[in-house]
Amino acid sequence: MSLAIETKDLVKSYKSKSGTINVVDKLNLQVEPGEIFGFLGPNGAGKTTTIKILLGVIYQTSGDAYVLGKEAGDIEIHKQISYLPEKPYYYEHMTGFEIMQFYASLFGIHDKDKCKSLLDRVNLGNDMNRPISQYSKGMQQRVGLAQSLLNDPQLLFLDEPTGGLDPIAHIEIRDLILQFRDEGKTVFISSHELSDVERICDRVAIINKGEVVAQGRLEELLVGGRIEITANNCTDATASSLRDDDTLVSMNHGRVIVDIPDSHSPNEVVKTIQGAGGEIVSVIPRRKRLEDLFLEAVTVDNRAKGRTIGTMTGKDDGTEADEVTA
Ligand SMILES: Nc1ncnc2c1ncn2[C@@H]1O[C@H](COP(=O)(O)OP(=O)(O)OP(=O)(O)O)[C@@H](O)[C@H]1O
Ligand SMILES: [Mg+2]
Repeated sequence: MSLAIETKDLVKSYKSKSGTINVVDKLNLQVEPGEIFGFLGPNGAGKTTTIKILLGVIYQTSGDAYVLGKEAGDIEIHKQISYLPEKPYYYEHMTGFEIMQFYASLFGIHDKDKCKSLLDRVNLGNDMNRPISQYSKGMQQRVGLAQSLLNDPQLLFLDEPTGGLDPIAHIEIRDLILQFRDEGKTVFISSHELSDVERICDRVAIINKGEVVAQGRLEELLVGGRIEITANNCTDATASSLRDDDTLVSMNHGRVIVDIPDSHSPNEVVKTIQGAGGEIVSVIPRRKRLEDLFLEAVTVDNRAKGRTIGTMTGKDDGTEADEVTA
């Protein structure tokens, strides 16, 4: 069976005052059918741009993008995919039910019962006759999900589906996404909500400045935890002596917290602290989180390229730039 999504050396360039910028840079992605795939990266990493190429909304500058075995943008494939944008826009005077009927008509669907049952499915059945202007952010997000199911898609692109939602809404949306997978759909999620991604995604790709910096199954990427050693009565000199490339040390009023990879033995750290008169409070192992992997992958990549986290150097001068065509 072919991959649900595949990109090969995908590049998207824009011309700006400072020159040509690759906002997607030789991107290679492989998404298996039937999986929930997390597409992660800092702001401006190129996630939405990649999704727009996969949807056929914009064209790549070079490289290949395939969706359900066909080139991105293929009309036949459009019938089998759907998209929840990061900033959905609705006509606010319309009710949830009217919005659903409007989007259904774009697909040539005139089945009111289908619209109603999808609204029931996302728990909006009781509110479907209220105007969207009265919907909370979470309710609007749920209308978006209901709308994205109208064409019974095989592949869903969800750009930030849980952004800005309260914890209960997160759980509801996560559960719905898990149901989509149970129905055999492939779900491609771009998100900054790493705890949601960690709970529901089978595989992830982390991108930075348009390039993949980590990709794989979560259980494989998250091997190797950390050990946190906390001690009191420590001096700055002791804290400094413990710092190295793999060891994070924080110091506050004589209390030191030393964070080491679990491949290192904590005994050396404990001995050093005790030898200098420090008093061990705790030694706590913790498993690696997606947040650790994200920071590690992005920081290492930025360091290798001489960049600082969060800077947009040469990527975004705030002006709409010209596309560079292939
Ligand atoms: N039309 C355009 N002209 C010039 N630059 C653009 C254009 N569209 C996007 N970019 C730039 O491409 C980069 C990637 O943008 P993109 O929206 O794909 O990021 P993202 O990963 O989705 O970020 P976020 O997490 O903030 O949503 C940004 O630096 C952005 O300014
Ligand atoms: Mg985006």
